[in-house]
Formats: sequence, C-alpha cells, structure tokens
Amino acid sequence: VDPQLDLFNEIEKMKKEKNAIVLAHYYQEADIQDVADYIGDSLGLAQKAEKTDADIIVFAGVHFMAETAKILNPHKKVLLPDLKAGCSLADSAPPAAFKKFKEQHPDHLVISYINCTADIKALSDIICTSSNAKQIVESLPPDQKIIFAPDKNLGSYLVKKTGRDMVLWDGACMVHEIFSLEKIMKLKVRHPEAKIIAHPECEEHVLKVADYIGSTTGLLKFSQEDPAKEFIVVTETGILHQMQKSSPDKTFIPAPPDNGCACNDCPHMKLNTLEKLYLCMKYELPEIKMDETLRQAARKPIDRMLEISA
Ligand code: 13P
Ligand code: SF4
Repeated sequence: VDPQLDLFNEIEKMKKEKNAIVLAHYYQEADIQDVADYIGDSLGLAQKAEKTDADIIVFAGVHFMAETAKILNPHKKVLLPDLKAGCSLADSAPPAAFKKFKEQHPDHLVISYINCTADIKALSDIICTSSNAKQIVESLPPDQKIIFAPDKNLGSYLVKKTGRDMVLWDGACMVHEIFSLEKIMKLKVRHPEAKIIAHPECEEHVLKVADYIGSTTGLLKFSQEDPAKEFIVVTETGILHQMQKSSPDKTFIPAPPDNGCACNDCPHMKLNTLEKLYLCMKYELPEIKMDETLRQAARKPIDRMLEISA
C-alpha cells in the first residue's frame, strides 16, 4: 500500500462507490473503529448485518462473525480483511466431537454461544451472545435439559445466574482465560475507588471480584452511566478506545494478563489492520463463501435468537 495514501479517505470513497458498509467489533484496532459505520458487540453486529441494505458487508472482526453475516445475507458479498482471523473459542468445539457429545445427551436442547463455527451452529437449536444469553436460557421451559456450548466460563456463569443445571462443553477463550487475578487485585489496591468490570468469558475467580459483568456493549454502557471515575477493564483492550472516547474525564485501566504483557490483545482480532481493510475493499477479497445446505441449517438457530432478542 502506497504510504502516501490517506486510507481513511480511500475507504470512505469506496464505501460510497461500492455501496459497502463497514461493521467492526469493539476489539478491532482504533483506526478500524474510527472508519467503521457501526461498532458493536456480537448481537449488535448480527442485528445490523441482518438489516443492512448495503451490497457489500465488510466485516472487521473474526471469521465466525463474518460467517454469521453471510448466513443472514446469502446474496450479499461479505468480506473479511484477513481470512485467518479465527477464534480460539470457536476452535475449541470441533464438529465431529461435538456431534458425538450431543448424541450422548439425546434429550437435551443445544444452546450455542455465537462464537462457534457454522457447523456447530447447524448442530444447535438456538444461538445466544453474551448480551442475551440469560434471556435465551430462560426462554426455554424450566424442565428442559440443556447443553451449553462452547464456552464453559460463560456457561458456568449462566448456571449460577439462572439456577439451571446445564451440561457444559469444555471450551474457552484464550484471551479471557489468561487474566491474572493477582495482578487485578494489585491494581485494585492502588486504585481502591476503581470499579472492576469484566466480560463473562472470564474465569469464575475473576468474575467473583467484578462489580459489573456484561458483553462489550454492556461494559461500555456501564462505564458511561456509572458515576465512578476509574475502571479496571477485564476484557480485550480494544474496547478501551470507545470507553475513553465517550468518557474522556474517566480513567480506564486494562486488566493485565498472566503472560508478562501489560494488556491483553486478541491475536485473531488484531490480524485485521487498516491496510488490510483498504485492500480487501479495493479487491473485494477475501470473501466468505458457504455451502448452501450448511448455511440454511446454521440460519435456523440464529433466527430463533434474533426473534427472541428483537
Ligand atoms: P461480545 O462483544 O458479544 O461481548 O463478544 C466478545 C467476544 O469475545 C467476541 O469475540
Ligand atoms: Fe475468540 Fe476470545 Fe478472540 Fe473473542 S477474544 S475472538 S472469543 S479468541
């Protein structure tokens, strides 16, 4: 890419010329968030993808998110700046093993977190995200037996919240699993007034010390509405950009992981860059392609979620 090019300008021009919309997740780098038409959590992004009348959806996020947009929009072109942008949580549920697991619990319905592949979605009865998970679980009759996949941390959080005894698949997110409770508590000693806010993909011992638990959108809203001046943010660092932008007088401290780094980036989310976004819009590649039978099977549980969350 020519270093003289104003990528922001070029991307804006291409959006108009190609009738393209740029959807970005909060974990994307700041430049991508600044050029996006819509920034959101997984539910917001799926809802936006379902409603858009753009011809091209440029999805600045990870593969399962762009794939969900394609499932909802078979006739639109869906682009992902880097096809290798995967997700450790989605990878933690291989379809063949999950199918066997499901067969071992034949009288159970399957609720799957949206962070999974289309194959897992096709094996599920209903999809949820971190912002509607409680509502989705509670939409099923109290005596309904449930498998929850693939995130065991969100799953155990929901078991506690709803009192429902769900069978959990043993998957987790590599980013949310490596937060150090010890380091978070050290920060809390230095900032006693700070509120600890955490994503439900974190482990139970971290969630125990949180003042608020929610999806990325939930965390952002809480940071805007709560009177506290300082927040220790226990999720991927990208969200701090919007927090800082909308509350410039507040201090946001990223919670440290246990790997020696100061903050916690998702290596998959951060594969996307502004340059790759520009190139993918210019060449309309890489594009998400899907088998039509799989797409239709994966769509059903997403539609069920969207109806409940409308
Ligand atoms: P939400 O933005 O829906 O809270 O999801 C977080 C996440 O880990 C996405 O990969
Ligand atoms: Fe997947 Fe975790 Fe990265 Fe989200 S933060 S994309 S759940 S690995």
